[in-house]
Amino acid sequence: MSLVNNHAVVTGGATGIGLAITRALVDAGAIVTIMGRDKKRLDNIANKSNKIKAIQVDITDVDSVNKAFVKASLTAPITILINNAGKAFSAPFHKTSFDEWEKIIAVNLTGIYLTISAVLTEVNQAKHGRIINIASISGLDGAAYTSAYSASKHGVIGLMKSLACELSKVNTTINSICPAFVNTDIVEKAIINIMNITGRSRETALQSILDTTGQSKLIEPEEVALKVIKLCAPEADTINGTSIVMDGK
Ligand SMILES: NC(=O)c1ccc[n+]([C@@H]2O[C@H](COP(=O)([O-])OP(=O)(O)OC[C@H]3O[C@@H](n4cnc5c(N)ncnc54)[C@H](OP(=O)(O)O)[C@@H]3O)[C@@H](O)[C@H]2O)c1
Repeated sequence: MSLVNNHAVVTGGATGIGLAITRALVDAGAIVTIMGRDKKRLDNIANKSNKIKAIQVDITDVDSVNKAFVKASLTAPITILINNAGKAFSAPFHKTSFDEWEKIIAVNLTGIYLTISAVLTEVNQAKHGRIINIASISGLDGAAYTSAYSASKHGVIGLMKSLACELSKVNTTINSICPAFVNTDIVEKAIINIMNITGRSRETALQSILDTTGQSKLIEPEEVALKVIKLCAPEADTINGTSIVMDGK
């Protein structure tokens, strides 16, 4: 499947799921601009391929986002936006401070509003424009200790469903991928968090995470990337406003 002549922006494209998506898009022939706050980490990835550009951005800051997308457009018109950047947070509701609540909503939900706002007109010019959100199963279901994260990801799904209705008149689609636990730093931090709070061993902490998944295994970032590539194909033109669930159930 060829994505030659496409320019994709991947937020959080230098780590975890985002990095796997970046690599898969490059392998499919696209130019990829990776965005994130850590300039050194972005440059380390971009320096390895002339098809990857790096631009620093804080997706919670409207000026930073608008400037970053203007800069990215100079490389080539943007045809694909992958809203991957995100922040995990787990705590009982009564221990979820207003500050943490605001941070999670800012990155996971307002950040997506800002990136889409910055690039939608441009993506709509593409023959097969694509917006793909890396949401979560937490965007579809509730679970204890995830109220802020879950609310932010439910917001992403709501935004997607409504925007998809507006986009049905143009050549752009918006979809979301909703994975369970993926083998990245986010899960590593969750394991350490469980160990610290409960005093469990690493093995037991990991097992408590795996017990919530259908197949008792972590998803690899490359599996999520494969779904992204399939959604970018011209053959996926009629898939719009959909949540693709990856939970092994
Ligand atoms: N891992 C899982 O189990 C899992 C499951 C379901 C969904 N997800 C979702 O998948 C996405 C990627 O997560 P991951 O597991 O790959 O974790 P990760 O490696 O920690 O990736 C998070 C990325 O987001 C970027 N980011 C965070 N805040 C940002 C900000 N304010 N502005 C710009 N970039 C920002 C980070 O880059 P900088 O630090 O350079 O800013 C980083 O590259 C997230 O949306 C997450 O919610 C993950």
